[in-house]
Amino acid sequence: MLTGKRVLLRPLERDDLKLIHEWQNDEEVMRLARSQPDHAISMEALAAEFEKVIKGEDLTTRRYGIEEKSSRKLIGWCSILFNAWGKRFTSADVGLAIGVKNCWRKGYGTEVVDLLLKECFGQLNLHRAGWWTYDDHEASIALAKKMGFKEEARLRENVYFDNKFHDTIVLGLLKKEYEKSHS
Ligand SMILES: CC(C)(COP(=O)(O)OP(=O)(O)OC[C@H]1O[C@@H](n2cnc3c(N)ncnc32)[C@H](O)[C@@H]1OP(=O)(O)O)[C@@H](O)C(=O)NCCC(=O)NCCS
Repeated sequence: MLTGKRVLLRPLERDDLKLIHEWQNDEEVMRLARSQPDHAISMEALAAEFEKVIKGEDLTTRRYGIEEKSSRKLIGWCSILFNAWGKRFTSADVGLAIGVKNCWRKGYGTEVVDLLLKECFGQLNLHRAGWWTYDDHEASIALAKKMGFKEEARLRENVYFDNKFHDTIVLGLLKKEYEKSHS
């Protein structure tokens, strides 16, 4: 459990899937979260995707439910996805989605990323945290930069939606940069 002031990041439970299913079929949320306004997923496919995580058997991904402390309600989900292709756990991509839209722009994202980074650097001793988004996702880029991420790469016209190609933006934050800003 990662505890912040207004949110806590807790393990995902099977009962959470109903809400996540709703959010993952919400055009507005998924346009932003996965660059796919037409993202659609059945409950069965979602359950299959989350099965290992819920059983604690997925060693390359940590997924959390974002719970608002005051209401005890789930407001989104987030993850630390280890870059494990080199069979070493030295870097990971962080990601989040706040599914309850009236919780946007209230500082919850900032708090969630703060908790994820504390975990990445303070507990997992990772060297680098990564962040993937696309060029006109203002909220995601603003949040990443606010938390100290720097733009590292641009994959030109890498994703297609809404009748045009968009650049994918990769941002990164090194442990030493994080520590410097927190010392
Ligand atoms: C992206 C997302 C996580 C941001 O979370 P949030 O709780 O709204 O973010 P915060 O309120 O903590 O805001 C963080 C910073 O981003 C800025 N910001 C947030 N939304 C913004 C927007 N739509 N346009 C421009 N800036 C924005 C805020 O002003 C704030 O900066 P400030 O503190 O200097 O003012 C949220 O919009 C979301 O979950 N969207 C759907 C899923 C998604 O896109 N996930 C990201 C995938 S990369």
